[in-house]
Amino acid sequence: MTESAVNEHEVSYPPSAEFVEQANAGPELYAAAEKDRLAFWAEQAERLDWAEKFTDVLDWSDAPVAKWFVGGKLNVAYNCVDRHVLAGNGDRVAIHWEGEPGDSRDLTYSDLLAEVSRAANAFTELGLVAGDRVAIYMPMVPEAIVAMLACARLGLMHSVVFAGFSSTALRSRIDDAEAKLVVTTDGQWRRGKAASLKDAVDTAVDGADSIEHVLVVKRTDIDVSWTDGRDLWWHETVGSASPEHDAQPFDSEHPLFILYTSGTTGKPKGIIHTSAGYLTQTSYTHHYVFDHKPGKDVYWCTADIGWVTGHSYIVYGPLSNGATQVVYEGTPNSPDEHRHWNIIEKYEVSIYYTAPTLVRTFMKWGREIPDAHDLSSIRLLGSVGEPINPEAWRWFRSVIGGNKAPIVDTWWQTETGAIMVSPLPGVTATKPGSAMTPLPGIAAKIVDDEAKPLGPGGNGFLVLDEPWPAMLRGIWGDMERYKDTYWSRYAEEGWYFAGDGAKFDDDGDLWVLGRVDDVMNISGHRISTSEVESALVGHPSVAEAAVVGAADETTGQGIVAFVILRGGIENTGDDLIAELKAEVSREISPIAKPRQITVVPELPKTRSGKIMRRLLRDVAEGRDLGDTSTLVDPAVFEAIKAAGKKA
Ligand code: WT7
Repeated sequence: MTESAVNEHEVSYPPSAEFVEQANAGPELYAAAEKDRLAFWAEQAERLDWAEKFTDVLDWSDAPVAKWFVGGKLNVAYNCVDRHVLAGNGDRVAIHWEGEPGDSRDLTYSDLLAEVSRAANAFTELGLVAGDRVAIYMPMVPEAIVAMLACARLGLMHSVVFAGFSSTALRSRIDDAEAKLVVTTDGQWRRGKAASLKDAVDTAVDGADSIEHVLVVKRTDIDVSWTDGRDLWWHETVGSASPEHDAQPFDSEHPLFILYTSGTTGKPKGIIHTSAGYLTQTSYTHHYVFDHKPGKDVYWCTADIGWVTGHSYIVYGPLSNGATQVVYEGTPNSPDEHRHWNIIEKYEVSIYYTAPTLVRTFMKWGREIPDAHDLSSIRLLGSVGEPINPEAWRWFRSVIGGNKAPIVDTWWQTETGAIMVSPLPGVTATKPGSAMTPLPGIAAKIVDDEAKPLGPGGNGFLVLDEPWPAMLRGIWGDMERYKDTYWSRYAEEGWYFAGDGAKFDDDGDLWVLGRVDDVMNISGHRISTSEVESALVGHPSVAEAAVVGAADETTGQGIVAFVILRGGIENTGDDLIAELKAEVSREISPIAKPRQITVVPELPKTRSGKIMRRLLRDVAEGRDLGDTSTLVDPAVFEAIKAAGKKA
């Protein structure tokens, strides 16, 4: 985000009169939350069906571990599925599923209820009981959503692992959570070709003590190797189970899932979310931020269920609201760049929620592609994952939104569980590039290092100064790290440190400026510098590595690595670089593959031995180096720059 973008507050886009007329949200929402925040959240909790009403809204006595809706009981899956069928909406389509090779399938809420019930019965038959962990490693097929809901129904915690992650990454997540079951597919479709997924699972679970079963959905029909007794086919095990299942209620604070995300150290953090608070806030935000009208809108969130956006805005938010949504298995350019627009035309999608990196990719492909389609069904657009640059924002609004659809730029995190800062369509006059205002019920500040709140123009840290219902409840197996990462920076004030830089403009609107820690944002995916560094150092040729995120026109940031080779290792040029990139793909995922790797003789360090990442970022982004006088040896930089020019 450039300075000029931040100052661009003169242009704003008020909602149209027609939109205001029909909007779910009105200004009274802010007023109500302002008047009594906890009463406001108690009212939002009424969106859900409770088996037992809560007695207290919030218990913050054990801060920073919150208890929301104390004493209440509900079943999350019942709220996402059964109650819509019981209300007479069983025939409503829940999921318009679009397979990558062109096959498709519609699941109504009744279908979903039968499938989730079968899966719940099968999971019970396998011996799983409330509190157990289940790893889900699947492409975007309906069974992935069914498996998540079956876990929720039984009080099992799911740990969804993005199917693009390596077997090494899957294994470390299985071990950390001690998962008993992995649900996967035989393979996945990628640009018309079937690639094995089961192979990666076989490698991952080999010797994994906690694993009892691997449940395999047949998706591509490719050959798989099979371990009798351990491996089971979904169509046999779940297919033969009864479609009747009685959902039991669980405590408001019953754990719902673990989702791993990158932190500033090499080891991913297992973020813990619980039931009622999470469901209340995902349901509330999905309703108001997307102005969602059940039975009328066709909603499409383009995320993968491997990320929190998929959890909150494909599974729990939309389904709790009885939404009809598109779920698409493939990439935006299979078989060609028209795919998303074909899907929007086919299902008359009215709400489209995606990431800035994709908008910039569409811009690069050219407006004649979307212009060849009738996108008039679209009435609202959403953006998430990274700051959206004003140019992409305007293109999105005019080319995709027909110059009228409001854009909601939604700031939140895996840890926040649900949207925190966003315009409210029908209320907020939006500004290209600004996430605008904390939602009703949410409290945020921008502060400096000394916890002093900053006014317009002051560049500081984004903090959340009151607990919120969907907040994380901890890091799996490491509560110290939880306290340390999020709560130690402003311990005295008791504020949550988000790790993002932000500022208010002269109108008091909020601009998120990006991470202030060693976390990179590549196409909206969170990857830590040290995770990539340890993958590189894991290679026998590498002695030391430093990784930075450098500005990238399409992906937001790109990964740039500097490595020192071990003594006696010969630099074989392109071959070595290719091998190192492959190592990172193998260890983490292709999404973590560095855009550029430069072999250097030394890394720039301060006198206290800290790698100077800021200077490396300057090199990676081709900037002048400025003051390097704190360096042990300024000549190091000349060598790095020279190596960079050769690369
Ligand atoms: C980080 C969280 C939230 C779901 C997807 C990412 C960045 C997210 C925005 C936005 C500017 C944003 C932040 C945040 N981010 N949304 N609208 N504007 N930055 O979830 O992987 O947990 O990453 O994504 O840096 O801290 P995540």
